[in-house]
Amino acid sequence: MKRILILDDDQRMLDALRRTLHRQTEDWAVTFLRRPEAALKALQNTPYDAVVTDIRMPGIDGLELLDRIRQCEQTRNIPVVVLTGVNDRDLKAKALERGAADLLNKPVEASQLIARLRNVLETKTYQDNLRATNSLLNEKVQQQSTDLAQTRMSIICRLGMAAEFRDEDTGNHVIRVGCYSRAIATELGMPRPFLEMLLLAAPLHDIGKIGIPDSVLLKPGPLDDDEWIVMKRHCEIGECILRDQSKVVVPLIDWYSTKQSTLKNVLDNRDPVLDMAATIALTHHEKWGGGGYPRGLAGEAIPLESRIVAAADMFDALTSNRPYRPARPEEEALSIMENTVGSHLDPKVYDAFIRALPEIRAIRDRFSDDVALFPTVEGASR
Ligand SMILES: [Fe+2]
Ligand SMILES: [Fe+2]
Repeated sequence: MKRILILDDDQRMLDALRRTLHRQTEDWAVTFLRRPEAALKALQNTPYDAVVTDIRMPGIDGLELLDRIRQCEQTRNIPVVVLTGVNDRDLKAKALERGAADLLNKPVEASQLIARLRNVLETKTYQDNLRATNSLLNEKVQQQSTDLAQTRMSIICRLGMAAEFRDEDTGNHVIRVGCYSRAIATELGMPRPFLEMLLLAAPLHDIGKIGIPDSVLLKPGPLDDDEWIVMKRHCEIGECILRDQSKVVVPLIDWYSTKQSTLKNVLDNRDPVLDMAATIALTHHEKWGGGGYPRGLAGEAIPLESRIVAAADMFDALTSNRPYRPARPEEEALSIMENTVGSHLDPKVYDAFIRALPEIRAIRDRFSDDVALFPTVEGASR
């Protein structure tokens, strides 16, 4: 049953329209009103499918009513048929301009009114269906974007785990460095998106170790000078793996873009987490006072995220067991770190680290090496 609202300030006109439409009562539920204010109120309370309105009325006239219907989210899609005098050329033009669905001359002919109403009702049904389909499609697209974002995050986490399997005794180190870094950044007052990105990006700091030969990476004793040169390459290898426009990715895009592949669109879609991870991978061994590697940057030339990860990584290395030494007590680790403030660690980052200590301790307990987050594989550790 379609709902129709008819508005005219002239009671005789309303009576005539009522007689005109009385045969349609099976398909249409028609409300007749004399006052525009009452019509606006009725439109708020009931979902009408069409409005027929007189144009010349005292107070709110037909044109203003049209405006109000169009401005309101709830009523903007209801078609409005406007009744005008034969000679109201100006008013007719204005009514169409303001979004009237159709015009009808007074006196209204029964067949005309019914035909026009059928038309606008049909169009509205069609448009309603279209809108419903559109919003369904939008929902689907949104769901797919969420799925894609989750897949990305999951791949990033797994990438960190992959690197870890080659290097550390347990995989928990990268998880702790991610959490510590987030805690330090929180103390530095960084915005939420930065914190979330850092949590995911920091665990990838040593991903470049994938590219270091076992003879160097897994060597039980100290490295000689040449081996150190090889070891230091893990920063650039890490960046190369993670940066979108790396020398690996660009030729791949070039090759496949000539074959009408959608690969270009996929790879052009820069991922801010991977971008931050690439920056961290490249610069996490730089030192605040200079003299780090691979670029020898100093001070604020080193990206903040890398200065944060440097502190988190140093604390975790000092407080973890190593094949050649046991974990140091927290007090000793802190005093070693304090001695590097200004030369290696950024003083502001170190202060934030100290403020974050209660949370850092909680993270260390939650993700300690005794907690098996990853499956242990015989022979995977050194
Ligand atoms: Fe590293
Ligand atoms: Fe590390």
